[in-house]
Amino acid sequence: MSRIHNIAVIAGDGIGPEVVPAAMRCLDTVADRHGFVLRWTEYPWGSAYYHENGVMMPADAIRTLAEHDAIFLGAVGDPDIPDTVTLWGLLIPIRRRFNQYVNLRPVRTLPGVPSPVRGAENVDLVIVRENVEGEYSEVGGRLYRDQPGEAAIQEAIFTRVGVTRIAEYAAKLARQRRKRVTSVTKSNGIVHTMPFWDEVVAETLANYPDVELEKVLVDAMAAKLVLQPTAYDVIVASNLFGDILSDLAGAIAGSIGVAPSGNLNPEREYPSMFEPVHGSAPDIAGQGIANPIGQMWAGAMMLEHLGEEAAAREVVEAFEAVLASGIRTPDLGGTATTAEFTEEVDARLRALP
Ligand code: NAI
Ligand code: MG
Repeated sequence: MSRIHNIAVIAGDGIGPEVVPAAMRCLDTVADRHGFVLRWTEYPWGSAYYHENGVMMPADAIRTLAEHDAIFLGAVGDPDIPDTVTLWGLLIPIRRRFNQYVNLRPVRTLPGVPSPVRGAENVDLVIVRENVEGEYSEVGGRLYRDQPGEAAIQEAIFTRVGVTRIAEYAAKLARQRRKRVTSVTKSNGIVHTMPFWDEVVAETLANYPDVELEKVLVDAMAAKLVLQPTAYDVIVASNLFGDILSDLAGAIAGSIGVAPSGNLNPEREYPSMFEPVHGSAPDIAGQGIANPIGQMWAGAMMLEHLGEEAAAREVVEAFEAVLASGIRTPDLGGTATTAEFTEEVDARLRALP
């Protein structure tokens, strides 16, 4: 009997249905090679579903997804639907209901993908973003609407449990890497939540004496990431700071089309979700030219999470080798279509001894 992993697939909108099958094909090839089975179940949720039913996914979607070992997501977003609806109707409920409190974003320069930043040839860092609390809370409101005294309040929520577990995740990850954690803060300006973040991070890291902890203010961090991106190993940050810095770091690595992310529930009480960093890219959807690397790399992260590390490594090595051979999609200055690039990656995987 081979190992079976049950995967829920939400290809979603725009280029999602183009890059998701491309990645699935390569993942199936390595699964075959390593004697496991990816049992895919596809769910047609997203913007088309919304146009028909008025919701992004059905009421029992969370219960349906809960039966799977992982969720493989393309992208959601439609020019005709407000982004608050697409985001809060699918992505955010999944992240919160499944307690996917780690958003993991590896940032690495790839062969043949030039960085717009000088000296950024060997970037290799991971951003560990807190994914379920912090600045992105639903607590707050609008009052005195449309009057001169109108006001809006949005509260940031930081809990000891929440900060401790994200700091712990970062420390454990650093142990497997270069043993350095950079904690992003703003405790000079934000006088309640950020000193609390600093204290809890420092207390947690005290249990990892072999891991070096450095504290950097978020504004300085933005500049340092551009000036010296190779200086970082694991960066741990709140929901908002992590969101912004991961887009910045992704841009330094060269292209939005190659960046992957994992929404992890490290305790594995619930399925984790893997997706590229990019969105539905409506400007190029339907043309067959989307870069499938972000989706493939997200797939490799999923395999790693499922305990299939050797297969995961092969996927990453295969798309790196194809890039190094000069074949690339138009976003990286090449002429290959999604199908052509995918065929090259798959052929390399099939040719492995
Ligand atoms: P986007 O990432 O979809 O596109 C930004 C630019 O990068 C576009 O010019 C696009 O063509 C290009 N691009 C993105 N992925 C690419 C790929 N794989 N290959 C080649 N080029 C690629 O971001 P944008 O335009 O801000 O958002 C479009 C829609 O996607 C919006 O509705 C937004 O809300 C949604 N979105 C969804 C996300 C998700 O599902 N997690 C994340 C980000 C945005
Ligand atoms: Mg973002």
